Amino acid sequence: MTNFAIDIRKAAKWYGSVCAVQDFDLQVPEGQFVALLGSSGSGKTTTLRMLAGLETPSGGDILVKGRRVNDVPVHKRNFGMVFQNHALFPHKTAFDNIAFGLKYRSVKAEQIRERVRRALEIVRLPHCEDRLPSQMSGGQQQRIAVARAIVIEPDLLLFDEPLSSLDAGLRDEMRGEIKRIQQTLGITTVFVTHDQAEALSMADKVVVMHNGRKQQEGTPEEIYRTPGSEFVMRFFGNVNEVLGRPVGRSGALTRIEIAEGAQVLIRTDREIEAETRFLLRADELRLSATPVPGEEVSCLQVRIVGREYLGMLARYRVEIGDLVIQVIQPVEDKDFPEGQSAWLTIRPDSWRIWS
Ligand SMILES: Nc1ncnc2c1ncn2[C@@H]1O[C@H](COP(=O)(O)OP(=O)(O)O)[C@@H](O)[C@H]1O
Ligand SMILES: [Mg+2]
Repeated sequence: MTNFAIDIRKAAKWYGSVCAVQDFDLQVPEGQFVALLGSSGSGKTTTLRMLAGLETPSGGDILVKGRRVNDVPVHKRNFGMVFQNHALFPHKTAFDNIAFGLKYRSVKAEQIRERVRRALEIVRLPHCEDRLPSQMSGGQQQRIAVARAIVIEPDLLLFDEPLSSLDAGLRDEMRGEIKRIQQTLGITTVFVTHDQAEALSMADKVVVMHNGRKQQEGTPEEIYRTPGSEFVMRFFGNVNEVLGRPVGRSGALTRIEIAEGAQVLIRTDREIEAETRFLLRADELRLSATPVPGEEVSCLQVRIVGREYLGMLARYRVEIGDLVIQVIQPVEDKDFPEGQSAWLTIRPDSWRIWS
């Protein structure tokens, strides 16, 4: 027995000699929102389809609410699903699109009306029953698709890149809406996406996938701040790679030279004896107009050689001797134009070694 809403054990899926998913374990407590995050071809859709009953696993077990469902067909699983192309019936009204799953389940007409009305309220489209999909915006159509998924009172909600076809503003809005609806109803949810921001902003737990395998799982903060591998760290982007040579120690910290005359302090359990490759996240670095005092932090004078305005953030390229690295920080009152010099502060814990 299991207390998890979803318990996937060693699931695998082979298409001939192509392995789409292997050795995949996942436990999801009731009511949790899980994001499967990975680039194209990493096995996200296959995993979701096995869960949904649209694919039969080649190996392993899939349990939902304690019941093994490997051989339970899709129509007997009572899951709500929303996909990228939301596939509303074009000639049916919003009401009929939402009601479709209920009629199929032989719910009485009066109850159908009541449940569709409530689903429309939950997705905040209370007066749209009679509209055809063509009379609604992309976002509204996607809300209808969500209403159709929740109206059946599903055991699980499954989403496969539902927001990819929407433009940026609407995507942001729908992120919040889907999260709100999921929290209101408390339905255990699996959400597939290749979009880091989507996964980090919506999920209670993020599962990073690569080559059909789980790379890491954790809260958004854990995944982002303490990546378990170079792959996961790089997946979120904005990573600097720096070569450094050990030149001594300073208490518990190691002193490393990263460019001619530029030394920094790093914290590591390793004994660094030779030139080593370090990774540094651009958003953990800080530029300031004056040096930042501190015993452990390293503060280096740098020259700004590039500046890219990103709205709330700016990305700077800074030169330290013959080394150029990027820094991402909020555009607060202080900006650093190209050509100017500035001070770069690096904490000793920011340096990561994978090799
Ligand atoms: N029906 C299929 N037949 C053969 N190969 C497939 C099939 N579906 C998926 N694959 C392969 O399995 C791998 C994972 O695919 P998929 O689960 O769709 O990844 P994702 O959703 O992360 O992009 C890919 O290499 C893909 O080409
Ligand atoms: Mg996919």
